[in-house]
Amino acid sequence: MASRYQETYQSWKSDPMGFWQRAAHEIDWTSTTNQVFDPDAGQYGRWFPDWECNTCYNCLDRHVERGRPGQPALIYDSPITGSQKTYTYSELLSHVQAMAAVLSDSGISKGDRVIIYMPMIPEAVMAMLACARLGAIHSVVFGGFAANELATRIDDAAPKAIIAASCGIEPGRIIAYKPLVDEAIFQASHKPDTCFVIQRDQAAANIVAGKDIDLGAAMADALSSGRTIDCVPVKATDPLYVLYTSGTTGQPKGVVRDNGGHMVALKWSMTNLYDIQPGEVFWAASDVGWVVGHSYIVYAPLLHGCTTVVFEGKPVGTPDAGVFWRVISEHNVVSLFTAPTAFRAIRKEDPEGTFLEQYDLSQYRSLFLAGERADPETVNWAAEKLGVPIVDHWWQTETGWCIVGNPLGLGRLPVKPGSPTVPMPGYDVQILDDAGHPLATDTLGNIVVKLPLPPGCFPTLWNADKRFFDAYLAEFPGYYKTSDAGTIDADGYLSIMARTDDIINVAGHRLSTGAMEEVLAAHKDVAECAVIGIADELKGQLPCGFVVLKAGVSRPHSEIEAELIKLVRERIGPVAAFKIAITVDRLPKTRSGKILRGTMRQIADGEAYKMPATIDDPAILDEITSALAEHGLSKAS
Ligand code: COA
Ligand code: AMP
Repeated sequence: MASRYQETYQSWKSDPMGFWQRAAHEIDWTSTTNQVFDPDAGQYGRWFPDWECNTCYNCLDRHVERGRPGQPALIYDSPITGSQKTYTYSELLSHVQAMAAVLSDSGISKGDRVIIYMPMIPEAVMAMLACARLGAIHSVVFGGFAANELATRIDDAAPKAIIAASCGIEPGRIIAYKPLVDEAIFQASHKPDTCFVIQRDQAAANIVAGKDIDLGAAMADALSSGRTIDCVPVKATDPLYVLYTSGTTGQPKGVVRDNGGHMVALKWSMTNLYDIQPGEVFWAASDVGWVVGHSYIVYAPLLHGCTTVVFEGKPVGTPDAGVFWRVISEHNVVSLFTAPTAFRAIRKEDPEGTFLEQYDLSQYRSLFLAGERADPETVNWAAEKLGVPIVDHWWQTETGWCIVGNPLGLGRLPVKPGSPTVPMPGYDVQILDDAGHPLATDTLGNIVVKLPLPPGCFPTLWNADKRFFDAYLAEFPGYYKTSDAGTIDADGYLSIMARTDDIINVAGHRLSTGAMEEVLAAHKDVAECAVIGIADELKGQLPCGFVVLKAGVSRPHSEIEAELIKLVRERIGPVAAFKIAITVDRLPKTRSGKILRGTMRQIADGEAYKMPATIDDPAILDEITSALAEHGLSKAS
């Protein structure tokens, strides 16, 4: 089939308002106006101003009212606890109503913020939808972040309540969440009124009467008394959620997502990009703590009337490298979305793909990869073993959905290895030099998107319009700066080469080296430091910290390095995967004092590098090379 991509992209380009107005017909609105876009509102305009809707209604109620009450909405598959449970649309709606009733009884209402700190259990999804139902704004914090990170988010979002589970489960260990929540509330200046706790069998939390509420028990009461609660209409431009993501400092950015444009964009993507029909089973093997989890575990599949899978496990080790194939086969998954690192992990354990032989994957159609660069070896391996189209697509927490991809629903375009293919309608992607001039085809530069961003993308940062402007709009007037660098070829195919800031990508998780440097610099013995991301076969990148100790510190380096590793784990969390700290005498710098992190990374990755013309003392680069070799990290070819 010839792809309809070009004509679809052109139809958007020639009439962007009409394009999104037509897409908006897929959503149930409580009221609409004739204005699709207000260029004068917000930071760069707002989509669907004064339209009204409710995201939970569109995800649940309308499917129950119109033919899907008995269809599975959510399949919970937890190899780590050995349990499974399926909720039909009707059951999920009852549970969400029950949770919304409990939240409402505690005074949670439209516009209130609620932090959700939960593992991959159905109640995490219910909590998000219950907030959406009430018009409250949720902010999910990934379970692998430490109390200190949670405290930062509590202070920024000023939530009325926190919804937590008693514990999360990682291979070989149970992580009690409630002490982390209590510690975070202790550290934060803002104090939420209530902490709701879902008690799990693996570790019960200490519930303090008058402060904490046993959410499971309260929901059971609400369910048995058949409590219902109406969807609260909100403006399309009202926030649905705030999701914090790494910035260049320890202060994370609160990415705001609105209700209306978000639904329009996600619904469009399910048909046209992912090629999924309502009623089919779609699985995003991510976590609700990340944007992929928000968009493609929760909102998009449910908006589309699909069945979503909530998977509590890992690609390997729970119990083996065949678990993805088991889930696909057992639940009739038609499309899987995950990060390339998951496939690198599977390939490492089972290079021949022998586990695949045990499962019937005949209904399985496509694999979508995002979150980090999809290396051609992994893509080729997956294509060979699975025999389905492998679609690399590029997006960011900020955009909430794909910027550049291969739209299977419009007809697949030819694949060029290493390229996530072409811009989706809504995105006018360009490459500019540092001075803001357009660059020629195939020339590496800053990837920018001409404003306005399409529906679904963030309108601003939570309570931080100026930071939003400074971080994303100021450098290239009229454009959104993606902070990714890349090229566009003569066919309009994009390639993503690197970040232009200090963000690194570890196992598909976005981390700030600046935030890690802040932690290292806080250690009493550290004079200065630099954290870089070094190439890793499994996780893509790993953080590697170099520290220079204060004069007169005589303790063994190994002792201090162990303390630094512990400190990052305590302050940022295990997700930082910070396990390499190296003491050096000096850091390489330019004559003006700028640390040459790029050159250090090239040395660590064994890449050829040019001696920076402005380097202060070239001999320091040899010292870095030796220090890496002493730590067994020499990749010199
Ligand atoms: N709660 C608490 N701790 C968590 C956690 C959570 N939700 N998630 C991860 N961690 C911990 C891990 O246990 C690990 O701890 P350790 O240092 O004690 O071993 C640490 O954080 C680092 O986690 P991670 O980088 O994920 O490594 P891993 O070895 O546990 O797993 C992969 C590696 C590749 C299997 C895993 O990262 C993966 O499946 N990634 C792909 C899918 C994905 O989630 N992508 C994200 C966006 S699409
Ligand atoms: P996050 O906000 O966590 O989704 O991370 C976004 C960043 O991950 C992007 O800015 C890219 O640097 C990287 N990224 C995401 N998807 C891809 C992809 N398909 N190819 C290359 N890099 C990607």
